[in-house]
Amino acid sequence: MPRVKAPKRELRLTWPRRSWEPGGEAARPGETRKLERTGDGAQTLVLGDALDLAGVLTSRGLAGKVDLVYIDPPYASQADYVLEARLDGPADGRVRRTKAYEDSWTEIGDYLDMLAPRIEAGARLLAKTGSIWVHVDWRASYLVRALLDEILGRDRFINEIVWRRAPNLGRQATSAQFGRTLDTLVVYGGPDAKLIPPTRKEPIEPGAIRWDDEGRPFTSAPRGDYTDASIAKLDAIGRVHRTATGKVYIKYFLVKDDDGVLCRERRVDALWTDVPPLRHAKTGERTGYPTQKPRALLERILRCASPEGGLVVDLFAGSGTTAEAAFVTGRRAICGDAKPAAIATARARLLRAGAGVTVERTTAAAWPTAEPPRVLVTREKGSAHVTLVEPTEPLAWSVASAWDGEGSFTTTWHSERAPGARAVRAERAATVLRASKVPMGVRVFADDGAMATLMVP
Ligand SMILES: C[S@@+](CC[C@H](N)C(=O)[O-])C[C@H]1O[C@@H](n2cnc3c(N)ncnc32)[C@H](O)[C@@H]1O
Repeated sequence: MPRVKAPKRELRLTWPRRSWEPGGEAARPGETRKLERTGDGAQTLVLGDALDLAGVLTSRGLAGKVDLVYIDPPYASQADYVLEARLDGPADGRVRRTKAYEDSWTEIGDYLDMLAPRIEAGARLLAKTGSIWVHVDWRASYLVRALLDEILGRDRFINEIVWRRAPNLGRQATSAQFGRTLDTLVVYGGPDAKLIPPTRKEPIEPGAIRWDDEGRPFTSAPRGDYTDASIAKLDAIGRVHRTATGKVYIKYFLVKDDDGVLCRERRVDALWTDVPPLRHAKTGERTGYPTQKPRALLERILRCASPEGGLVVDLFAGSGTTAEAAFVTGRRAICGDAKPAAIATARARLLRAGAGVTVERTTAAAWPTAEPPRVLVTREKGSAHVTLVEPTEPLAWSVASAWDGEGSFTTTWHSERAPGARAVRAERAATVLRASKVPMGVRVFADDGAMATLMVP
């Protein structure tokens, strides 16, 4: 697939001490080290800076091959974020807090110098039919529009989608301004990008429902800007309703929603009020990672902007929402984050969902080391029983029935803590099939992302 050409430079932004030079850092090559593989390994998580990961993907020949790049970066919020692992589930149970990531900047120019080359690097990966979605809020949306105008050109703009991420309640509703309850998705695309907006079912007032001669329920609306030629086409398929006075209305046939209520099916526009905030999602979806987005939001984005089986890249993966949405919608995702806590959270989440996962790190990224696990191992012919003694409450642990202490770890058994109204601890004991005399591996992940691997001779 040919890649999107850089635009003729029509715009060059300036800010004090701007260091970003288009075409510079965004193209640097890179490599990874493979750390482990579980199942088919189809969803890939990479520890590393967004720029390094984009370089790795370029070195793998993926520039111009990616269907969808989703970027949910820090928003210049001047805050630092904390990951809250709730060990008991309910709000008042035990909480393990870890610093997740920082979003404080001395100057807005520093933020732009971080963001611009990373968006540019993501845009370089796009196929001609692909699109790049940058998710921000009021603090950065106007900046991202301008950056993308410089990176891809004004004519590559597709949409500015506004998602209501929170209800207008509490402090927001009582402040001397309209509630800042919205996030913005800035969407630009390759020259042949096409989105397929979904439809949603909107209930119809009973008084506005009519029935045609065949007993089909419909509602009608004025012809609006339909031309006579379009009206003739709609008439031919029974979609035109004429009143007694001869006035022309368009018929919209109705469908039932899950509760049996008659609804009009409407195409979703750029105002998304129907994707509930994460706090309304099932508690099992909430990983405790700050600024996690609802899976339903990512599912909508993936379905409308990438083909089934397509390749999706997320360079600021956080808790792995994009990767899980890719898994459940039948896409392949490569997701990276600079923080081990993010990758460990995303890994645990994907494995709980039953996905096959490959974990890598860029050569520039270092994985922090946890305390080595303590295990009890008993062997029988052809199998081994492994009990995890320490740590008692890991985020996740796994066993490789053959591991020589070097290279990638192929998981044979794994267990992760499951968040939810009643959080469920990772299981303590594993049984794996194993060939005698081959050493095994036991790997643990702590909530801060630190990892330790023990070779069991
Ligand atoms: C807004 S959060 C992403 C949340 C994610 N969409 C989710 O649903 O969980 C931003 C993420 O960007 C990561 N990040 C910040 N700077 C980065 C960089 N230079 N390269 C890669 N990741 C970075 C942070 O560690 C954080 O996890």
